[in-house]
Amino acid sequence: MTEQLPELPLVMVLNGPNLNLLGSREPHIYGHDTLDDIAERLEAQATGLGLAVDIRQSNHEGHIVDWLQEAGARGALAVLLNAGALTHTSIAIHDAIKAISVPVIEVHLSNPHTREEFRHTSFVARAAKGTISGFGAASYTLALDAAGALRQ
Ligand code: DQA
Repeated sequence: MTEQLPELPLVMVLNGPNLNLLGSREPHIYGHDTLDDIAERLEAQATGLGLAVDIRQSNHEGHIVDWLQEAGARGALAVLLNAGALTHTSIAIHDAIKAISVPVIEVHLSNPHTREEFRHTSFVARAAKGTISGFGAASYTLALDAAGALRQ
């Protein structure tokens, strides 16, 4: 009889609008790493931490809402969420975070609080477990460590 291995705890990494352009988009703010570079690093880190990662990007608000609901239905350990500009506008994403019992870690490459006034409001932060921002691509790896630490 083959032994069933227990499933690894799942961390969903959700990226919103324009993050598909990382690497070429305003590199003086967001750096030179592409989202694929970041995904590769997160996958290697997840293996070391004994976690499974599911990394996605969409330019559409509804996809982010659907994926947050999916994280809830799948009983994910955590979600890392860089909602891009939707951070500052989306009550639907705020409500989706509130609607699930999965902790959401808000992630930003830049530090929105040192930038334009319109970036100082975060509807994600109001519902998230915590926020990691301002460390460039390393914000994601720091956030994955934080997600791993949520295991008991
Ligand atoms: C961002 C910050 C947001 O203000 C901006 O709209 C983005 C990227 C970041 O990762 O620094 O798209 O979320």
